[in-house]
Amino acid sequence: MAEPVVGAGEVLIRVVATSINPVDDKTRQGIFGIDASVTLGWDLAGVVIGGELPVGERVIAMSHQLGTGRGTWADVVVLPVGAVVRAPESVSLVEAATLPLAGLTALQTLDWLEVGAGERLLVAGAAGAVGGIAVQVAAARGVRVDALVSREGQQVPGAELVTTDPRALTGYDAVFDTYGAFVLGAVVEGGRYASIASQAGVVPEVDGVRTANIQVREDGAGLGELVRLVDDGVVGLRVDSTFAIRDVRAAHERFGQRGLSGKVAMVF
Ligand SMILES: NC(=O)c1ccc[n+]([C@@H]2O[C@H](COP(=O)([O-])OP(=O)(O)OC[C@H]3O[C@@H](n4cnc5c(N)ncnc54)[C@H](OP(=O)(O)O)[C@@H]3O)[C@@H](O)[C@H]2O)c1
Repeated sequence: MAEPVVGAGEVLIRVVATSINPVDDKTRQGIFGIDASVTLGWDLAGVVIGGELPVGERVIAMSHQLGTGRGTWADVVVLPVGAVVRAPESVSLVEAATLPLAGLTALQTLDWLEVGAGERLLVAGAAGAVGGIAVQVAAARGVRVDALVSREGQQVPGAELVTTDPRALTGYDAVFDTYGAFVLGAVVEGGRYASIASQAGVVPEVDGVRTANIQVREDGAGLGELVRLVDDGVVGLRVDSTFAIRDVRAAHERFGQRGLSGKVAMVF
């Protein structure tokens, strides 16, 4: 690949670490019908080497790879300055590389749900990357959070109840659905239901419940808030395993296993 050229309003970043998200795996498998020669990757943590931020600054960013074609699995990446923020100081760049896509999805979906202190929230898929961050952020906002998970014994920091059985779940002001559980019966009249599981289809309409399918967007301000939450110890980042980029195939094989204890990171 030719090295990208930095333009006005952009930052040139040398990538140190990235992580694998489900969307990367789906793009690689051809599910979105995209040419296999594109550069994959949505997450990055690295060091500024040019453009509109100080050279040498440690930064993180999310690139909307599907929308823009700017993949982060490259030695050097150019991104708009508005999508790039200073990296958390309390964690390594490898850990920080697991935050952007999952964190922004959690934050933007919680903001749409407008779930506040004292309200009850159910997170379906709460042991996953997005769900795990959503539970921690909501709990820190004073929300009472319950977790629906795939297996007994899964740990969900911040959740009051952790269950594998969706049948008895009722009385929630809001549901954050990360895998297409579609437990509409769990929501109270006047409640909200958001799904990020695009592949599972549109959330069924139910009278008296506001529904949405959320799509994540680049958002430097939101990413800055997430960095503060990490440095304040509110959001913990979990790395299952770390691979060199040349072992990308092994990294994908690891990612394909269910029930991982955190994200799969790759380093350059
Ligand atoms: N719309 C958007 O903008 C957007 C943004 C980010 C992510 N996403 C999508 O959101 C989904 C979650 O992303 P992620 O990064 O959090 O993935 P992840 O880390 O793999 O988490 C998914 C979680 O859901 C659990 N799960 C799956 N099926 C389940 C079931 N039937 N019952 C209970 N739990 C179940 C998984 O458990 P196991 O590990 O046991 O399977 C896992 O803990 C992916 O499909 C991703 O593509 C969408």
